[in-house]
Amino acid sequence: MTEETTTLTEQVPPPVREWPAHDLTGTEFDPVLADLMREGPLTRIRLPHGEGWAWLATRYEDVKLITNDPRFSRTEVTRRQVTRLAPNFAPRPGSLAWADQPDHNRLRKPVAGAFTVGAMKRLRPRAQQILDELLDGVLRDGPPADLVERVLEPFPITVVSEVMGVPAEDREQVHAWTRQIISTSGGSEAADRAKNGMYGWIRDTIRARAHSTDEDVYALLGAAVGRGEISEEEAVGLAGPLQIGGEAVTHNCGQMLFLLLTRPELRERMREPQARGRVLDELLRYIPHRTSVGLARIALEDVELHGHRIGAGDPVYVSYLAANRDPDVFPDPDRIDPDRDPNPHVAFGNGAHYCTGAVLARLQTELLVDTVLERLPGLRLAVPADQVVWRRKTMIRGPQTLPVTW
Ligand code: HEM
Repeated sequence: MTEETTTLTEQVPPPVREWPAHDLTGTEFDPVLADLMREGPLTRIRLPHGEGWAWLATRYEDVKLITNDPRFSRTEVTRRQVTRLAPNFAPRPGSLAWADQPDHNRLRKPVAGAFTVGAMKRLRPRAQQILDELLDGVLRDGPPADLVERVLEPFPITVVSEVMGVPAEDREQVHAWTRQIISTSGGSEAADRAKNGMYGWIRDTIRARAHSTDEDVYALLGAAVGRGEISEEEAVGLAGPLQIGGEAVTHNCGQMLFLLLTRPELRERMREPQARGRVLDELLRYIPHRTSVGLARIALEDVELHGHRIGAGDPVYVSYLAANRDPDVFPDPDRIDPDRDPNPHVAFGNGAHYCTGAVLARLQTELLVDTVLERLPGLRLAVPADQVVWRRKTMIRGPQTLPVTW
């Protein structure tokens, strides 16, 4: 018997821990995840929906390893009812999140051009204009104002709609569908209705752009379908999550502004132009962006990690939130350190599935924070911090409303 097999047979798998969907408020780090991190680098969890249990990796190095390793498949998850947070599970062909290589590259290629650093530079003046118009309205109406309703919600959806090529008259409807889809409230029927509505609309939009030479995402997808690079079904599955992605900025920036408004020392640092980028990255690292964990992967073969055998067919989750608090990489990880450098956080994920919208999200976050703080000097919460209402039963965490005055 080799040393390796001895290790494998002697390891007792960790107990399966229940991870219920808690409605956490503020920017509190999930206490269940904190316990799991303490229990070991590799634990086992059961989430509210789906079947069975899954492995959970929380250490930075392991998260990077698993997300870069083709032995862990996303596509396999679509054939199973893996334990998960979301009540409904209906992955679509074409969705980047569920594609393995080489399909992932083939699918990403048609839309990649719309999300590059260069494309985002070109978008910047238009995005600034959209934001300025929203703030003109806030200033015109005077305090108090709900920043979520007036700025954080309309800004990303309008910007994403510019990038995607959503006609102005359809924007409200598309936003309503998006919100219903990412919410876990309203039950599966409401979510299904919203998905059917949005995906039907996306199909019609892509068809209508088949011969367009524009550079918005729906035009790029229409053209790629025309050239036979992707199917219409794939184009629709690809576009959906991109269309929904803008919502992430609303809630992430909601958490960010809450932190800046409740920690004056951070806000002070944001005023220093050379410190801004660093503070922003530190906040991205610190913010508990989502509830629970994201999408699972399935081991295609046996993999040994920390003396445990992850069996072929076992589902595996990684937690980017936990990796961002790994003390081996981020000393004193629960503290917001505006001088943290280096800061190799994984707030946008890692590996092939790294967030498609990361550069766009970063652009919007920078503009939002800079513009809001600059145009509303003296900005402060209009209610005590503990009375801010937080979103409930959602995948992405953030304030429901952010009442401010100035
Ligand atoms: C994937 C974070 C904004 C589109 C992801 C992942 C994370 C993430 C952690 C998962 C990586 C994985 O599955 O391993 C964020 C954060 C955002 C944000 C923190 C805002 C602050 C956006 C925006 C868009 C977007 C604005 C699009 C307009 C996507 C897509 C994927 C993704 C399509 C799936 C990529 C793939 O699986 O290949 N994002 N995101 N995200 N995000 Fe974002």
